[in-house]
Amino acid sequence: MTVAAEGLRRRGTKMNEQKSWQSRLTQDQDERAVAFVESLSVDRRLYKYDIVGSIAHAQMLSEEGLIRREEFRQIKQGLTEISEQIEAGRFVFDTRCEDIHMAIEAALIEKIGPAGQKLHTGRSRNDQVSLDLRLWMRDCIATLIERIMVLQEALVQQAAKQGRIVMPGYTHLQRAQPVLAGHYLLAFAEMLQRDRQRFADACRRVDVCPLGSGALAGSSLPLNRQRVAEILGFASLTRNSIDGVSDRDFCAEFLFACALTGMHLSRLAEDWILLASQEFGFVAIDDAYCTGSSMMPQKRNPDMLELIRGKCGQLYGNLMALLTMLKGLPLAYNRDMQEDKKQVFDAADTIEACLEMAAAIVQHTVFDAERIAAGLDAGFLDATALAEYLVGKAIPFRQAHQIVGRLVRQAEAAGTTLAGLPLAELQKACDKVEGGVYDALTAANVVRGYAIPGAAGEKQLEEQLAFWKDQLQQP
Ligand code: ARG
Repeated sequence: MTVAAEGLRRRGTKMNEQKSWQSRLTQDQDERAVAFVESLSVDRRLYKYDIVGSIAHAQMLSEEGLIRREEFRQIKQGLTEISEQIEAGRFVFDTRCEDIHMAIEAALIEKIGPAGQKLHTGRSRNDQVSLDLRLWMRDCIATLIERIMVLQEALVQQAAKQGRIVMPGYTHLQRAQPVLAGHYLLAFAEMLQRDRQRFADACRRVDVCPLGSGALAGSSLPLNRQRVAEILGFASLTRNSIDGVSDRDFCAEFLFACALTGMHLSRLAEDWILLASQEFGFVAIDDAYCTGSSMMPQKRNPDMLELIRGKCGQLYGNLMALLTMLKGLPLAYNRDMQEDKKQVFDAADTIEACLEMAAAIVQHTVFDAERIAAGLDAGFLDATALAEYLVGKAIPFRQAHQIVGRLVRQAEAAGTTLAGLPLAELQKACDKVEGGVYDALTAANVVRGYAIPGAAGEKQLEEQLAFWKDQLQQP
């Protein structure tokens, strides 16, 4: 017998007394059906929101004269006690109550009797569950946005501290052009900024009160929907009761925002795993975020980053599961929709943990300036800058590109860099070249030469740092 069932037995409650809808059915549910249909094990984490929503609903019922003031007082008192009981771990979650809504209602009725039986007036679990989930999600998004900001902050701090290191930038994982480490770090801050905005935007569609939609058609009772929305701090009301109970777009949007954030973290993780490898050696991940090997004594593995990368798959799965579950559902509510919470909670927990871990790792990552500098001559990072120098000498870019391409081959054959070629060789390739050409060469000089907003140089880094300082102060 489960702990919950045991609790029920102790209370001497028969199952057919337990379910509010039991009178319609001729026999008790098969035990397997009871276990199969329950969502209490998942949705119990909504309890706070279920209770807040119920108190607001009951307050409105009393204000509209649908229940007596005294009954509201009892309901509020009873629900508050239940909330305290749950928080203290003293509440028996009986899965035979199906879900958190029925568990709390049953407990309330047991506690306060007849007044408790009036709580569900003008309400269905269909609008109730949507309400609870929206209330939960509003809070969850606020937390996630904070977590994103903490990670952004870590990136900005590192960009300020270690950002002036010149490092190779890559395309196709081949050395491309030099960039400042700070510029590289702040690229991740940009992604996260869009994630933040995406969550905030999604929240506008979460912040709509569905209560009053009832099962699907609203109610013939004079419910004051506006009042409930006001008490709960919703920005608006759902306009259509059918849509009100069958809409899970807000969940899909939330899961997409989680998936995209997860993808960004996965890319950061992949990059840092690579940059921390012996082959690169650009960064050192703090030991606190590494593990050893059970067999190879020398190993220091970036497992936390690998897990961040791996968990992204889970987030995609959450989104796909929800979209697939919703596809083809007839209007309005169907029990399939109960599966939404599993995905939503799982994604929220996953992304929150990943954000937290990523922030800690970023905070403790050290760039190896010497190692990076020692390798800067490799890969002709200044080739594009040389072509642009020639453009400055009135050579059409396509020709400049070819001239530099040939010089790269020449330098490669001679085992040197572009800056290592004598002036005479450079002038042989193009007679417009002058002695000042060397100021355009080497990675350090190239970075100094970046001229436009958004480019990978010093001036732009300072501008970005100022922008982020300002951004991260805002709530
Ligand atoms: N536990 C259900 C869910 O999460 C609540 C709604 C049940 N509604 C119903 N008509 N059976 O979706």
